[in-house]
Amino acid sequence: MSHQTIVILDLGGQNNQLAARRVRDLGVYCEVKPFNTPAEEIKSLNPAGIIFTGGSGKTADNTASGIDKNIFSIPVPMLDINCGCDPAAKTSGKEIKKITDENDIGIFKSFLFNDCGCTGDWTMNDFARQNIAEIRKKVGDGRVLLALSGGVDSSVLAALLAKAVGRQLTCIFVDHGFMRKNEGDEVQKAFAGWDINFCRVDARERFMSRLKGVTEPEEKRKIIGEEFIRVFETEAKKIGAVDFFAQGTIYPDIIESGTNGSGVVKSHHNVGGLPDCVDFKEIIEPLKLLFKDEVRKLGTELGLSEILVNRQPFPGPGLAVRCIGGLTEEKLDILREADYIFRSEIANAGLDRTINQYFAVLTGMRSVGVNDGVRTYDYTVALRAVHTTDFMTAEFAKIPYDILEKTAVRISNEVKNVNRVVYDITSKPPATIEWE
Ligand code: XMP
Repeated sequence: MSHQTIVILDLGGQNNQLAARRVRDLGVYCEVKPFNTPAEEIKSLNPAGIIFTGGSGKTADNTASGIDKNIFSIPVPMLDINCGCDPAAKTSGKEIKKITDENDIGIFKSFLFNDCGCTGDWTMNDFARQNIAEIRKKVGDGRVLLALSGGVDSSVLAALLAKAVGRQLTCIFVDHGFMRKNEGDEVQKAFAGWDINFCRVDARERFMSRLKGVTEPEEKRKIIGEEFIRVFETEAKKIGAVDFFAQGTIYPDIIESGTNGSGVVKSHHNVGGLPDCVDFKEIIEPLKLLFKDEVRKLGTELGLSEILVNRQPFPGPGLAVRCIGGLTEEKLDILREADYIFRSEIANAGLDRTINQYFAVLTGMRSVGVNDGVRTYDYTVALRAVHTTDFMTAEFAKIPYDILEKTAVRISNEVKNVNRVVYDITSKPPATIEWE
């Protein structure tokens, strides 16, 4: 079944994908094309309408002059979002609708459904089918390698690739030992029935021995990042040369890494990829135009387990940066149990869908307590829970006291060597979401 197509002509700035997302949200298929795309090429897509997007100001003015003027004679409705194409259009005798706020859903709706006559029947299922077809075409009979972390993005990508190329795909899942309780097994289980090559590497000892005595957060992150690449490299070598290396980059990753001029606050270990150590010809990034919630929808569409699709964000170095200071197996076990209890209580209270990120931290601090009249000197667990839309800023979640109380009682009763539980009431900034 063919769908109406909206062409988005990108005249610079970041609005192109925001507009694309609005159009997709309204159930209409769209393609983003660069500003200098020839009119013939656009015509060949048989568009139902054309949207011009640009950042405000100069970029748009300058690039507008590079538009193929014949585009304005394509007999379809056109919409200008903040990019000043209307004078050029007018000269060509075309009236185009103009808006300055890409958040105005009403205007999008009226443009797509009234002006262009779109029906809004494009679904995530269509998106999946189209992408599967595109991946098959690109990959041919080549081999694809994916570093699977178990996070939402790499899991959805694995599912998409599995549907597209099956056993031509090898997923390497490095178990560094810093995952949450049961998580490694959950990931393995989620992919157990799939017809792909799935390789779980137990590298727990390797990581722990490299981190022995290391207490400084950035040093920990650096070592984990490096060791991850080494382990991956060793495994990839066993497989030999592959044709494609798949990355779960999503659209916000591109925005964040491309436009933020500020200094590094924390070195995020799984951003930037691993291209040097693996023998491959080309990188493929099939999710790179999707926003996080679209990635989740796609995962559901592909039949991925709910546990993976709705997983909250988890840092690449995992519990290693939630266990403050030096790491030991004992401390990681304490943290894993405490974190599990907190997550269960949040879920029991039905807050798991509204709080964006919540976890336990094992502070390096010990304090005096009392148990059955006997003095204890044990660890303090901190609970962290935040509301955020973009993870760049965040507010601590106002969790009801009774839920915090129940969590604290359970943690101090059920987890050995913990005698104190505190709740982190700092926002970001000045704190970050993670403690290290
Ligand atoms: P911070 O602690 O900087 O975290 O406020 C912002 C968000 O990023 C996550 N985070 C990471 N994600 N690799 C990741 O993919 C990392 O190394 C990493 N460190 C922090 C953090 O969990 C939060 O969602």
